[in-house]
Amino acid sequence: MSLESRAEELLRNNRRHHAGHQYTVPSPDIYPYQWLWDSCFHAISLSYFDPIAAREEVRSLLAMQYDNGMLPHMFFWKKSMTKPYFLAWENKKRSSITQPPMLAYAIWEIHRKYPEDQFLEEIYEPTLNYYRYLIEHRDLRDHHLVSIINPDESGEDNSPRFDAAMGAPSNISFYRHMYERNKLVEKNRVCDFNAEICMRQNFWVKDVPFNVILIRNLQALGHIASYLGHKQGEHFATLHGKLMRDAMREHMFEDGVYWSVMGPKHEKIKVATWAHFVPMFASLYTQAEAEAVVRNHFRNDLTFRSRFGIRSVSMKEESYRSDGFWRGPIWLSPQWFIYKGLRAYGFKDEAAFVKSAMYNNVDSSNFREYFNPETGEGLGAKHFTWGTLILDMKD
Ligand code: GLC
Repeated sequence: MSLESRAEELLRNNRRHHAGHQYTVPSPDIYPYQWLWDSCFHAISLSYFDPIAAREEVRSLLAMQYDNGMLPHMFFWKKSMTKPYFLAWENKKRSSITQPPMLAYAIWEIHRKYPEDQFLEEIYEPTLNYYRYLIEHRDLRDHHLVSIINPDESGEDNSPRFDAAMGAPSNISFYRHMYERNKLVEKNRVCDFNAEICMRQNFWVKDVPFNVILIRNLQALGHIASYLGHKQGEHFATLHGKLMRDAMREHMFEDGVYWSVMGPKHEKIKVATWAHFVPMFASLYTQAEAEAVVRNHFRNDLTFRSRFGIRSVSMKEESYRSDGFWRGPIWLSPQWFIYKGLRAYGFKDEAAFVKSAMYNNVDSSNFREYFNPETGEGLGAKHFTWGTLILDMKD
């Protein structure tokens, strides 16, 4: 069976139905619930062969939206949670934190392939409200950079980008980190997950990937609004995309790359991670800057590049561990973001390298969660869906 057919089969097998809703679980054993950015990846992959399922994936996300527009990072459709370490996030049927906002991008991808105006109209207001929430509630000082209140909101749970803000040592273990994140959730429970108060008191990071993803998604939101003739929404998306680009340049750019920042003074967190590459996804580098990033970081086997793909953390970081979850291993959605960014700047050979590494990893491991950059060994959850993004890497 071709790899593409195996990807389609995996998405079908991981599909769940509940009370008129449909969604896809990232992995039946370890991740048997619905996650926000995972579902956006699923919708992108599904848009190639099952637009109805892709639309349902989006509808199920919007069905659990908070009144203030926030979308939870986890959705517990069926029963209460069985994984104890997730318990602290539970707030009845949905978690109290969010995840990188890939929704508008996914919706536009579905629409580009299988346009259905009725669907677009149906999802437009709630989708706009989600982006409004991020702009209005996650930017305490109106600096045009959006903040996260827990590392899990980045989707890179134990990334060393958050060590300084968490007060975590570089050799922190996986479980200790989880414990610390849960403690943070408990503190945020005290401020009732009101982001504006919680970020002032507990954890306040403006993360590069989250902001890049938001900028690229505001562009997609602008396309949706413009297509539907909603001038105000189009203006909102264009204006904030531009303001955020300028703010990222002002507060995050140094030494040729973008760094996440923390606290009210935008203190740079100088930890080298794949966040060096993701700005290409929203075209934040000039061509000359992108060339330097590729030359200095992408083609560097002593830091990021392994024959199995691009490491999540540079090997030169003290925190680097080849089996350390988000502290070194190769993850597949980052490979997809990097691939898209490289293509946008015309780095064809580099994009082809990432694509072939991704194909080989998936082929040899049968869709694992992440990969050891030194040995190529597939690690973590099995039957994990992020590898299905190969369906969106055909060109
Ligand atoms: C892990 C990942 C996170 C993902 C979740 C479900 O927690 O770090 O990004 O959303 O699994 O796949």
